[in-house]
Amino acid sequence: MKLLKKISLAVVVVLVGMQFFSPTKNISPGSHTEVFIKETNPSAELKTIFENSCYDCHSNNTEYPWYNNIAPISYLLADHVKEGKKHLNFSEWQGYSLRKKDRLLEEIEEEVVDGNMPLNQYTFLHNDTALTPNEVNELVEWVRQTRIIYQLGKQPK
Ligand code: HEC
Repeated sequence: MKLLKKISLAVVVVLVGMQFFSPTKNISPGSHTEVFIKETNPSAELKTIFENSCYDCHSNNTEYPWYNNIAPISYLLADHVKEGKKHLNFSEWQGYSLRKKDRLLEEIEEEVVDGNMPLNQYTFLHNDTALTPNEVNELVEWVRQTRIIYQLGKQPK
């Protein structure tokens, strides 16, 4: 029992100590996804879906929930954002090649159709961020149309 008390105390001390540290936040206000929206021309509904369900982890601007002020949650979120942006960053769309844009659209379709994205941990904590079957269909249709544009762009003139 004595040992257990010591361990509990140590855990509390570590948790409290952690609160003095926090990872750098992913915040850059402004219309950072303008190029992506202009090029791929999603419907207003799809645009809202990207804003509500994807940009927090796949853009240069995250809207943080209040619990991000609590370590170690802040570190878990920072890791999701870092990993998410590494794979796909809607704020950096202008920097991707045609081939990469085409491939990313294919992956967006796959991840959403398979139900991998948005991450379960995210939809569990954020209401109405999971896509309905109708929204998934609309996204699939948009991906197909937009990929054609990028694929045509690849053709030699
Ligand atoms: C909570 C953070 C989070 C949200 C919200 C989120 N993602 Fe992701 N996403 C990640 C992480 C982390 C990875 C990389 C690790 C992985 O594949 O699981 C990733 C990977 C991806 C990939 C690349 C997969 C690959 O194989 O390279 C695509 C495409 C993607 N996400 C699309 C989306 C779309 C579209 C949305 C919105 C409908 C979305 N994500 C919402 C965190 C997120």
